[in-house]
Amino acid sequence: MAKPLKVGLAGLGTVGSAVVRLLEDGRDKLIARCGRPIEVVALNARSRGKKRDFDVKKFRWIADPVALARDPELDVLVEVIGGAGDPAKRAVETALAAGKPVVTANKALLARHGQKLAVMAERRGVALNFEAAVAGGIPIVKTLREGLNGASFARIYGILNGTCNYILSRMEQDRLAFDDCLREAQRLGYAEANPTFDVDGHDTAQKLSILASLAFGTRIDPNAVYVEGISSITLADLDAASELGYRIKLLGVAVRTEEGIEQRVHPTMVPKESAIAQVMGVTNAVTLDAQGLAPITLVGPGAGGAATASAIVADLADIARGVVTPPFGLPAARMTATRKAPMQHHEGGYYIRMLARDRPGTAATIARCLAQQKISMESIVQRHPAGSRGAAQPGRSGEAVPVIMITYATSEDAVRKALAAVRRDRVVYGEPQVIRIERA
Ligand SMILES: NC(=O)c1ccc[n+]([C@@H]2O[C@H](COP(=O)([O-])OP(=O)(O)OC[C@H]3O[C@@H](n4cnc5c(N)ncnc54)[C@H](OP(=O)(O)O)[C@@H]3O)[C@@H](O)[C@H]2O)c1
Repeated sequence: MAKPLKVGLAGLGTVGSAVVRLLEDGRDKLIARCGRPIEVVALNARSRGKKRDFDVKKFRWIADPVALARDPELDVLVEVIGGAGDPAKRAVETALAAGKPVVTANKALLARHGQKLAVMAERRGVALNFEAAVAGGIPIVKTLREGLNGASFARIYGILNGTCNYILSRMEQDRLAFDDCLREAQRLGYAEANPTFDVDGHDTAQKLSILASLAFGTRIDPNAVYVEGISSITLADLDAASELGYRIKLLGVAVRTEEGIEQRVHPTMVPKESAIAQVMGVTNAVTLDAQGLAPITLVGPGAGGAATASAIVADLADIARGVVTPPFGLPAARMTATRKAPMQHHEGGYYIRMLARDRPGTAATIARCLAQQKISMESIVQRHPAGSRGAAQPGRSGEAVPVIMITYATSEDAVRKALAAVRRDRVVYGEPQVIRIERA
């Protein structure tokens, strides 16, 4: 039998431990498929003495991840420590500099330094594989890098954060408030103790920046992503969305426009019957819109040890077979700078919910502010608060009345200006809620 692929594994947490187990359990299958065994030989983590669910003593322990990366006995580094900085960064750079392929699940590192690392890998002619970094168990990186390498993408969008999708699904299905769902997600281990990175949309933004590079051949630029989280979404929004035929999802969307690539993460209304709207709970999904192809939606687990380890083992199998592909599907030197399409120029339909003052002239003022920005309404619903009075009776002057509007396609700039004018004219209470609508 051909000699084994010897793996050095840095990080033994949720993902690293699952990789050890999967390589042990799948040993024979991998030999049959790759023609050689894939063996973990050496390990590293912060604490050697920590209790793990496998026998650490069966492997060499190397206390420093950078020393593990340069160890001459090892053929490949698997980095599952996490974080954009050291020691993950130095370990990956050290392995690539030594001409050693790398498999990583580290989206933060790739979003920040992916371009430079891809150049290093290509110079040495070695693989830099990162299937696990985006949407865990969904083979989206391979799909973009290889399966659809010849496609010309117009748009790619997805549910890339299981925590946010869990919270929005639970709010909608069980009529619970955001804070209650978040606490529950934390209790179930879906959300971190500090959930802001997830619920504020930054985790999705990192993943989107990687997918956008793969799809459009542009250099990764996480700063080019417009980001809004889900914490302002209320039951009133979910109810209104449902009545109007939509669901609300936190989407990462990258679109090719005439001005460049528009990358945005925000709560989004998608038609209830669309494929992406069916994805509930912690599940992830990505839809690919390419010229000449009907949209393709991939759905599956976005996180968890088993799903993520499955992606890592598939990346190792490619290395064991000698497959080397440019990390982003085309040589890094040919990737173009990301031309950021300004968010003010985003065009689409909008949902607007505002609390209007119930007094003569309010409706006319709102209509005038919108008309000045050439915004046309597809629908408008004015609701008197439940139980306040019969529909035919006038309300108390100044009472807050929810008004919900859906616009025809317009620009972000127009919506912002119209709402600023509405607020200046003091016909609404508080900040209007704005949710973009995505054709899906
Ligand atoms: N969890 C998922 O479902 C998932 C899904 C997709 C991608 N990812 C990515 O996979 C990576 C790992 O995630 P995880 O959930 O497995 O994290 P985790 O459970 O927190 O494990 C992190 C591991 O790294 C080790 N470590 C931390 N700092 C270290 C240091 N300075 N030097 C050496 N080792 C260090 C820890 O050592 P100790 O065990 O000794 O503390 C631990 O074994 C991250 O990049 C994450 O974004 C995770």
